[in-house]
Order: sequence, then structure tokens, then C-alpha cells
Amino acid sequence: MIIFKDHTALKKHLFRLKTEGKLGFVPTMGALHAGHLQLIRTAKEENTAVVSSIFVNPAQFNDPRDFQKYPITLEQDIRLLEREKCDVLFLPEVSEIYPDGYSQLEHYNLGTLDTMLEGSSRPGHFQGVCQVVNRLLDMVKPHLLYLGQKDYQQCMVIQRLMNLTGKSVALRICPTQREESGLAMSSRNMRLTPAAREKASAIFQLLMYAKSQIQLGDLSGLQQYGTQFLSQQGFKPDYVSFANAGSLELRENWDGEESLVMLIAAFMEEVRLIDNMIIT
Ligand code: PAF
Repeated sequence: MIIFKDHTALKKHLFRLKTEGKLGFVPTMGALHAGHLQLIRTAKEENTAVVSSIFVNPAQFNDPRDFQKYPITLEQDIRLLEREKCDVLFLPEVSEIYPDGYSQLEHYNLGTLDTMLEGSSRPGHFQGVCQVVNRLLDMVKPHLLYLGQKDYQQCMVIQRLMNLTGKSVALRICPTQREESGLAMSSRNMRLTPAAREKASAIFQLLMYAKSQIQLGDLSGLQQYGTQFLSQQGFKPDYVSFANAGSLELRENWDGEESLVMLIAAFMEEVRLIDNMIIT
């Protein structure tokens, strides 16, 4: 694996690689887990070469404490990427991504995606994600971009960003990888104590329960049950919501036909966990 810190050298190298075939890209913020590694494996199967990036993007943290606490495990990440035979790792400094700083950045019109669910709890988060992803895509110019379904709203936001900026990159959304307990893999899980990590599987249990119990009509009963259940399991729920799986428009009723995604965010020991499932 070749590691680049400078985007000019990276671009030159990737230009050569692209003449040989398809290039897949897996952007990350490091603290890699099995979910990231599965993205790399899928990208390896579908491309001639794979680039990954590790950049903890300050512009997407609305809470500076969250940014400071973000786990950094660079040496281990490099070892894991080498084991997966990732071809290129881009490791930029903040000045490489934001040469003019990141206080005054371009605004992307993301519509309600910007302010609902994650956007409502983390104002400015998706604008920050768009800044870095747009910049990385301009530098890497991959054929395919790989993201995990765990960040469902982020996948929609990035698809919208690519439509807005006219990027001809194909987006592959790969299934959420789970721990044995059902807990969705996330770099944030590292911050949970073993006991809390065990309890955190309640989110998955709730998603499975909703999938088995959903009925035509009003969804508020299921929503209330979900919020109560999470509280009883030691969470501080942020939202338990249902939305159209394609547009992410929120739904309070199910017509029996529409494909719905259930989305959950909840705090366990001050660690914010999110998960989702297509339930119809
Ligand atoms: O999902 C993430 O790890 C980040 O939001 C991303 C897409 C790498 C942008 O910083």
C-alpha cells in the first residue's frame, strides 16, 4: 500500500492507476472496524485498485468535545488496510483539505436532509460532510464510492451532493456490519464500557421487533414503544423515526406498500449511537 499525504502526488499516481482500470474509493475517519474492512473488500472485488482515506474532518463535528474524543488508531488502521491489500491510503493534513480554513465554506442546498434527524441534532454536520467528501472526490476522482448503510442519511446526503455538483461517481451503499450481539459496528463503540456495549444491542432488538410488528396505519404506537423500550434499557433516546426508504420523507403512517426505513439515534454513556433498518 502506498501512503500519500500530498494531493498533487496522489493525483499523479491515481491518474496512472485509472488508465489500468476502475478505481474504488472508501473514505473514512479512521478507527477502522470490520464494517470499514468489508467496504474495502467489496471495493477490491469490484475495481482494479482501491483508495482509502483517513481524515478526521473537523468541519463535521458540531460538538468540539466529540471531535476531541474521536478515537485515533492510525498504526493499527494502516496494518488493517495493508492486510486487506488496499492499494493506496490518502492521509491528508487539515491544511491539505482546507487550505483557506474551514470557517467560511460553500453552502450546499440539501433541502430537508440538512435539518431533519441527524441534521436536527447535529446542526451543520452534513454541510461539513459535504465539504470534505466533495474535496476528496475532486482529488481522487474514483469510478465508485463505497459507503455503509449504517449512516443512512449520510448516504442520501452524499448522493444529493453528487447530483448537485454533477459528479459521475457511482455510489455503492453496503450493508451494515454488526457485532455478534447485533450492535451496528461503529468507531464510537470503542468508547463504550463492555457492559454498555452489551446493552447497546437493544437498538438492533428494537429494529427487529418493529420489522416483525409493523402494521398498516398509524406508526405512533410503535414509535412510543421504541422510545420507552430504549429508555428502559439505559439509553437516552434522541429519535425513533420512520421514513420513506427512498426519499427519507418522515412518515407517521404506513400505507402497506411503501418501503419504510426505521431510524434510531440514542445515547448510551454519552456515546451517540445510530442505526437503521428497512422494515417494510
Ligand atoms: O462516515 C464517515 O466516516 C465520514 O462522515 C466520511 C464520509 C468519511 C466523511 O468525513
